[in-house]
Amino acid sequence: MSVGEGDRVFIFDTTLRDGEQSPGCSMDRRQKLALARALAELGVDVLEAGFPAASEDDFAAVAAIASELSNTGVAALARCQRQDIERAAKALERAKRPRLHVFIATSPLHLEHKLKMSQEQVLAAIDAHVRFARRFVDEVEFSAEDASRSEPEFLAEAFRVALAAGARILNVPDTVGYALPAEYGALFRFLRERVPGIEQAILSCHCHDDLGLAVANSLAAIENGARQVECTLNGIGERAGNAALEEIVMALKVRRDRLRLQTGIDSTRLVPTSRLLIALTGNPVARHKAIVGENAFAHESGIHQHGILSHRETYEIMRPEEVGFERSELVLGKHSGRAALAARLQELGIAVDGAELDRIFARFKQLADRKKEIFDADLEALALGCERDQIGPWQLVSLSVQAGVGAAGSVPAAAVELHHRDGRRVREAASGDGPVDAIFAALKRATGTDFQLVDFQIRALTRGTDAQGEVRLLIECEGRRFAGRAVSTDILEASADGLLEVINRIERQKWPLPVSSAA
Ligand code: KIV
Ligand code: ZN
Repeated sequence: MSVGEGDRVFIFDTTLRDGEQSPGCSMDRRQKLALARALAELGVDVLEAGFPAASEDDFAAVAAIASELSNTGVAALARCQRQDIERAAKALERAKRPRLHVFIATSPLHLEHKLKMSQEQVLAAIDAHVRFARRFVDEVEFSAEDASRSEPEFLAEAFRVALAAGARILNVPDTVGYALPAEYGALFRFLRERVPGIEQAILSCHCHDDLGLAVANSLAAIENGARQVECTLNGIGERAGNAALEEIVMALKVRRDRLRLQTGIDSTRLVPTSRLLIALTGNPVARHKAIVGENAFAHESGIHQHGILSHRETYEIMRPEEVGFERSELVLGKHSGRAALAARLQELGIAVDGAELDRIFARFKQLADRKKEIFDADLEALALGCERDQIGPWQLVSLSVQAGVGAAGSVPAAAVELHHRDGRRVREAASGDGPVDAIFAALKRATGTDFQLVDFQIRALTRGTDAQGEVRLLIECEGRRFAGRAVSTDILEASADGLLEVINRIERQKWPLPVSSAA
């Protein structure tokens, strides 16, 4: 990274350090390495891999990541203590682009109650430790912890000292998420006026989300000269989390008209990388989470659906494909209108209009009052005037599964028995990498349907070991994608039901559906 590249904002990802230290987000070394590779693919400029002095595990993870990544900067955190810096430098030894990130608090609260140091002692510590860090690497970042609650004049002095001692990046953390956007932005303006030579360094923001302002504060900092943003994927981090990387990146991209800045992030990798983090930590994001949440591009209200169908931009400021989603989902529910229903039916190959559409729409509204979301299988059943389980043509008669680990003979296998509407009864068995893979292989064989599994997710809908499990899957068949969903207390049964529902839909598309005229 070279200093002063006008319209570029550098993304410093701290998911593996500030993010990982929050409860429920810890990862082992193998998981950290997998995420680090994905973050590098995503295009982050610098990846903070950990705090090597904190534990042997952190040290080993930083060292492993440092030796693997070649185009991404790798940072390691250290307090203003020689042992911390030596440890961090050692962990970064094999990094192609190492960065030492040295910090000390500057606020009166921290000086008095935590560090028990005077302002003069803090300034001396900054000077000594930034200089010490520069003995190991060129790229030294200095952070003034709790900067937003520090006395501005003292903060400016701390940065003057850090700059003179050789820091190349000056970070201004809002450690406890206390700042307001205008105030935080003004702090950057103030520092740019009061620290001579500051333009030779990169100014950086680091915001926590205690008041839900982390992204707004980061943008205010950027508008006032910050050119590095410290953030985490899915906004994970201490307490309420850190500024969410995906939100900052998309705000910069969507509002380039105003901000006139860009990042090096490949935005189409945002959703896949976010999902990898969820899979590694088991920590989901809220359905309505901006950019990467399941509902982020789902339109349910009738007015919105009508608008989207006539012209996407009426209710969509970015395309779901831009962030790595397949396409915008029109979730049908009780707010959906006739236009959205007709459009979805048409996509399913059910062309209806006039009085027939009115009848289906009336039944759809009744069902929507009872059910929160309406899925494709429900719509087909409505159009056919029957229950969704009765449509077929395939029905699952029986399923048995063998699973196990270790011992010989415990190869995962599944046997299925199916009944076809034309009277055939088919039995098939198959082995697989795991029980779900075996079930899918057996169903593929039994129905003679060829497909590729694109996405498969299981989640608990309720708590406890007897929770209802929901399976969602996406498969590709002859160049088209089909989504399926099933719920059961038995996740293997839900997997089989979900896939069979999709196979049935593929088969039904081969012959036109007779639309019922029953009211
Ligand atoms: O929030 C904070 O102040 C930090 C620093 C160590 C950069 O995470
Ligand atoms: Zn932090």
